[in-house]
Amino acid sequence: MSIPHDTALAWQSLETHANALKPRHLRELFARHPTRFEDFSLTAGDLLIDFSKQRVTPETLLYLRDLARAARIDDWRQKMAAGDPINHTENRPALHMALRFPYGAAEQTAKAPTFPPRVGEEVARNLVRMRDFCETVHNRQWRGMSDSPITDVVNLGIGGSDLGPRMAVRALTAFAHPDLKTHFVANMDGADLAPLLARLNPRSTLFVVVSKSFATEETLQNARAARDWLATCLPEALSEPQKTAALARHFAAVTSHIEDAHSFGVPSEQIFAFGDWVGGRFSLWSPAGLSLALAVGFSHFERMLSGARLMDEHFFHAPLEENLPITLALLDIWNVNGIGVSSHGIFPYSQSLEFLPAYLQQLEMESNGKSVDREGRVLMRKSCPILWGSPGTIGQHSFFQLLHQGGQIVPCDFILVKRADFPLADHHARLLANGLAQSAALAFGQTREEARAAGLPEALLPYRAFPGNQPSTTILMENLSPRALGQLLALYEHKVFTESVLWNINAFDQWGVELGKQMARTLLPSLSDAAMDAPNAAAEEKLDASTRGLLRALRR
Ligand code: F6P
Repeated sequence: MSIPHDTALAWQSLETHANALKPRHLRELFARHPTRFEDFSLTAGDLLIDFSKQRVTPETLLYLRDLARAARIDDWRQKMAAGDPINHTENRPALHMALRFPYGAAEQTAKAPTFPPRVGEEVARNLVRMRDFCETVHNRQWRGMSDSPITDVVNLGIGGSDLGPRMAVRALTAFAHPDLKTHFVANMDGADLAPLLARLNPRSTLFVVVSKSFATEETLQNARAARDWLATCLPEALSEPQKTAALARHFAAVTSHIEDAHSFGVPSEQIFAFGDWVGGRFSLWSPAGLSLALAVGFSHFERMLSGARLMDEHFFHAPLEENLPITLALLDIWNVNGIGVSSHGIFPYSQSLEFLPAYLQQLEMESNGKSVDREGRVLMRKSCPILWGSPGTIGQHSFFQLLHQGGQIVPCDFILVKRADFPLADHHARLLANGLAQSAALAFGQTREEARAAGLPEALLPYRAFPGNQPSTTILMENLSPRALGQLLALYEHKVFTESVLWNINAFDQWGVELGKQMARTLLPSLSDAAMDAPNAAAEEKLDASTRGLLRALRR
């Protein structure tokens, strides 16, 4: 299949426009367009996005929206909601949005997209089970060994089974349940789990093993270690079945592979299933958010879902001109394909959002970090940029130097929260002032003349000039409530999906992660205890010289 004619034309027009606009500076764009903030900012629910500091003109937006129309974003939205197998390489739908629309939910409105009915029922059932489980833990009915109530929850998972709940638990610290501490362990390095176990009391610890596949090496390795650790505390007098039952009280599992969780030793009542119609990096809203629901309480988890639901309805119904996720996607397309950037910074001016950049790295780069289109052809254009970031104020004292004077274009998202989640003296006003100042300084810079006028010595002027023209979008959140967080995350999810439609790629598979996993399996025997004394020389001869040399050095 060739690229549809209208899409090819829309790309062409956009690229011609990009060439013409390149020399323009944000200073000039602002000077010529006094209502730039009013024209280039949008609101929905608890979010405002200001994209006036992006290097676009009203004309750019027309070209970008033409491209979105030509790529049939409205059809793709419908296909996603209808449960079409838009993840074509795995023949799966991508129905994470349905997780926010449980069948029969009071808030379900006429604006809700139409999902396959069986999905809504499954979602509603799961939510009831999650709610009941959270309640028994919170009201101390759930007892571990020695009749101990649970004081610590440890989420064992990696990738989408870790980053989402980890980020959201941190973001919603202000809502944390007072009697429960939540921990996250993802790394196979014993340095992640071992020091944590040393601090915990096995009798009051609950492990939530989250793995969609229930086959991920890191997670299973940690789950087995947790089970062994718990087993050391079991009273000798217990029979084997009593030991198994006692251990089982310390585990819940979240997976699509119920049988495997069962074989591991988790009883059916403690297994929370989610279908293969939810991708790992989109699974926070599913039972994969169990640790979050335990950490902040089920009602707050539900409020996060309701926030995401608002954004879903907005994504479906707001016209292109007012649509926040589509606008963000178009701006990314512009930066990557119009301006030619390869990098994108994420700077929350909120310590509670410290894990947002890591979460977005998976969401965006595992989804769109691809160079083959839906028809199996090599892409003609660049796709997803490299995402990175940190809380803004922390970055200001480190890598912001490069953003200001390093000579590379790095579009940035500044995320500001209007009201502090932890008010303290005038910290919040200072934090916001820094966020605003950085985005303005990056956009407008400082000329040599301005530096001279400010009285700086002539010899220093080359060093004290700031070129500016660094594009950014500011996302302003009303607060860091579960509802506003739900909106923010769904905003990014739909942005990523829209970009995939425009680049014509499948955002829901991740074949790129497989090769290294396979190779690790092959290499493991070379690092076993037996191999220390008697390595398999014939097998290792087949390896590349670098891997072979490193293996020898490791064994030496
Ligand atoms: O290896 C990548 C990946 O498959 C991610 O896509 C996923 O989020 C993560 O591993 C964890 O997978 P699972 O939930 O199956 O353990």
